[in-house]
Amino acid sequence: MKLIFTFLKPYKAAAVAAFSLMLTELAAELLLPYFLGRMINEGVLAKDMDRISFWGGIMIGTALLSFAAGILNSFYSAHVSYAFGYDLRSSLFRKVQSFSCSTLNKYPPSALITRFTNDIRQIQNTVFMSLRIMAKAPLTVIGGVIMAFVVNGRLAAVFFITVPVLIGFLYWVFKVSRGMFRNMQDRVDKLNRVMQENLAGMRIIKAFWRRDYERIRFERANEDLSRATRTAFQFIEASSPVLFFVMNMSLAAILWFGSQQIGSGQTNVGQVVSVVNYALRVSMSMSMFSFIITSFSRTKASADRIGEIMRIRDVSEETGAADPNLAVTKGKAEFRHVTFSFPDKDEPVLKDISFTVNPGEKLAIIGATGAGKTSLFLLLPRLFDVQSGEILIDDTPITAYPVKNLRDGIGFIPQTPFLFSGTIRENIAWGNTKAAEEEIIRAAEDAQIHAAICNFPDRYDTRVGQKGVNLSGGQKQRISIARALVRKPKILLMDDSTSALDAETESRLLEAIRRYRCTTILITQKISTARMADKICLIDDGRIAALGTHEDLLEASPLYRKIAESQSGKEWHYAR
Ligand code: UTP
Ligand code: MG
Repeated sequence: MKLIFTFLKPYKAAAVAAFSLMLTELAAELLLPYFLGRMINEGVLAKDMDRISFWGGIMIGTALLSFAAGILNSFYSAHVSYAFGYDLRSSLFRKVQSFSCSTLNKYPPSALITRFTNDIRQIQNTVFMSLRIMAKAPLTVIGGVIMAFVVNGRLAAVFFITVPVLIGFLYWVFKVSRGMFRNMQDRVDKLNRVMQENLAGMRIIKAFWRRDYERIRFERANEDLSRATRTAFQFIEASSPVLFFVMNMSLAAILWFGSQQIGSGQTNVGQVVSVVNYALRVSMSMSMFSFIITSFSRTKASADRIGEIMRIRDVSEETGAADPNLAVTKGKAEFRHVTFSFPDKDEPVLKDISFTVNPGEKLAIIGATGAGKTSLFLLLPRLFDVQSGEILIDDTPITAYPVKNLRDGIGFIPQTPFLFSGTIRENIAWGNTKAAEEEIIRAAEDAQIHAAICNFPDRYDTRVGQKGVNLSGGQKQRISIARALVRKPKILLMDDSTSALDAETESRLLEAIRRYRCTTILITQKISTARMADKICLIDDGRIAALGTHEDLLEASPLYRKIAESQSGKEWHYAR
């Protein structure tokens, strides 16, 4: 909570202005019943028209002052809350961007999206309402009680009993409801997750005819949310009748004591009217308390959820870089006894991996599904850090490079291509924002996608759907290859990137890549692809089972022989 409100600091002046205006408005409002009492006593009861006009004029002036202060206050409150929300959102975005992959693994996108939208909006509204009306309610209570005492202490004594009782009660309501609102926000997360998956997976849901199944899943999340919301609001709402009851009782008590005092001549009608007027204002403010409590409990829950993200101290990706100018120049990659497990798991997925790829060499990595090939790729750009052993690029440990320079030297083509919404040109240039038009086209040609792009109605300006829906799997794959090539990387990592290509296109692609003279490590399932590399590394269950040329491996590794035979049995038999 505290952390979140440090974001208000830059707007201190405006907030103070808003607060002072609110105090002016409040003071004016609190003076009105007092003036009314005086007008009744000195004007109405004394039948003195001059006094009536005098106090009437003062009352109109005070009302106008309160009105003007109210309008200006709205203006400043809105300014503070929107600027605050903007800053908080930007800062949260930067924070999330700085997270390492392992931290991001812990928070599903839906949980983060809810924080960006729902939670921030909640806090922002509360800031606005606090400056506008919420802080006013408790001050009205305090001011009203004080003014009632000034007018007639004996009548106002009633407040001494009711106000502390109500405050204690409201505090209890606040404490209990906070947990309920946190629960509610967590359910919003869950509902968002189901929604998101449902929309992203629409095709497969239709293809499997799982509409009903998904509807039930959605309804369950929806019901959970509405149950949590109902519980929280019912609890809060149940508190208002209690408030009203106590306040009405105190009004009745004031009227009763007041009439007795008038009877015995201890007071006059003007004073009783003033005190009753204060009592009404106090009870009106009290009735706002259930709303205030709701807002504060919800805001506390939302602020905690955002604070939880803001407070994460991620092992910075930027640690360890001694020389800020160190960059990848040659592209030699070396693994030395690397063992790695994902942060949330104990069992290592890679065990004692050692190999070297010299500059310009091509290494193929082959192995069964789940063997750990993709995991190995994640280590080179330091998306995850190793537990033991060392990875070196150009004979320097990768931890010594500034992360930006390290990643600038690497062209990463993920196993599942991901395209951003925008045009094809934008998607390719995303790899290197400085690339000129010819370089973009060159990369597309080398990725064997230029001809296909030229057949699109808007060529390079063709828009890619939010997830590239209007492209085929192979087209997406090749755009993602072009995006890596346009970086002119020293090391190219291709994770099964030619799986959707026919043999001819694949060999043209690999031929084109040769011209980049970059070190290439490519994961493949196909022996025919692996054969085009200088060396092949066979991974089996996280270990290197064999390393060498195709011929070496056929000779030395029974597992490799088995894979080779299963893919094109006869050919390899004859070759030997
Ligand atoms: P990989 O993703 O490295 O396997 O996962 P792979 O060799 O590339 O497999 P294919 O060919 O693409 O299918 C290796 C192991 O790491 C675990 C997986 O469960 C798998 O057993 N893993 C992967 C995680 O624990 N967390 C992850 O984020 C990813
Ligand atoms: Mg993989």
